[in-house]
Amino acid sequence: MYTLGRMKKGLNILAIETSCDETAAAVVRDGKILSNIVASQAKLHAKFGGVVPEVAAREHVPAMIPTIGLALKEASIKLSDIDYMAVTQGPGLMTSLLVGIDTAKTLATVLKKPLIPINHLEAHIYANFIQESRVRNQESGGLPKFPALILIVSGGHTLLVNMKRHGQYEIIGETVDDAAGEAFDKTAKLIGLGYPGGPQISKHAEQGSPTKFNFPRPMLNNPGFNFSFSGLKTAVLYEFVKQKKTTQLINDMSASLQQAVIDTLIGKLSQAIKKYHPKTIMLGGGVAANALLRKQFEKLAKQNKLSFSIPKFEYCTDNAGMIGLAAYYRLLNKRVKATTKFSPMPQMTLK
Ligand code: KG4
Ligand code: ZN
Repeated sequence: MYTLGRMKKGLNILAIETSCDETAAAVVRDGKILSNIVASQAKLHAKFGGVVPEVAAREHVPAMIPTIGLALKEASIKLSDIDYMAVTQGPGLMTSLLVGIDTAKTLATVLKKPLIPINHLEAHIYANFIQESRVRNQESGGLPKFPALILIVSGGHTLLVNMKRHGQYEIIGETVDDAAGEAFDKTAKLIGLGYPGGPQISKHAEQGSPTKFNFPRPMLNNPGFNFSFSGLKTAVLYEFVKQKKTTQLINDMSASLQQAVIDTLIGKLSQAIKKYHPKTIMLGGGVAANALLRKQFEKLAKQNKLSFSIPKFEYCTDNAGMIGLAAYYRLLNKRVKATTKFSPMPQMTLK
């Protein structure tokens, strides 16, 4: 295995991420983030109530090169200072992934630099290895310890992962239908809130009662660690049509829905802790930006006397810093296959 000492010092990785509606580029040096630029298209897609793949891909094109330019500028380096390139191979939207991958392949070929394809889900995990950018308990100090259990919650995925060492993932639970973020996005749309739904729901939840509506906690009493969130939409809609439409109703529905999703996530994680006995629990993905989830996650870790890690907000939602970190750890652990001969993998899984 490589150790830090044996790797070139001052190793610069230029990372690119375009799996959904964020055009992102970052420079990572020796595992530290020098720059992390995200050009979000969220406002554009809000009009449509969700991400429109063709619009996302078209918007990535003009944003890509300026985003890379900004990342280099903020890191105070030139393209010629780059040692490695990294890019998201999947999962994600085919046409969005293509823009980042084509750009990365072109730059890697012209600059004659090795290119490392990265799994977006692995990168959400590695957001927890950004030293200067995570919330963790004081006593655990340093980096997450293995074995670790990771809850990845994003717009497209809900996964519980048992990670024994770097690069070794066992998916012990996943959603059988909608992802946690999707549950927020779709129910937000039903009750007239904008896109993306997660931040809207959590904002309105601050003024609402989490016990006003008893929405289901799906699969919490089933054996195993899978999730199911699609039924929540129906439960919310069923209540919504019966009620007088007031601001208080929206706030109460938001708070009750948020509580149902979080109770389900934390409940399953708690059951998994009893079975897998991890040393650390980690959180990742866009929904990890949710303040109440972060609070309950921390509480669970403390109750179980576990070390824990939660990425700072900007490293929860999609960004290229986490792609650079995943590439860096692949280099450290000699798990690198640098190549320009690969295609986007919209359905890529963790393995
Ligand atoms: O990881 P991400 O940026 O993109 C994917 O890989 O899917 O996650 C986006 C998801 C969206 O569903 C969004 O509603 C959700 O993360 N999200 C939140 C919050 N901020 C973003 N969900 C709940 N509370 C938040 N504060
Ligand atoms: Zn993501």
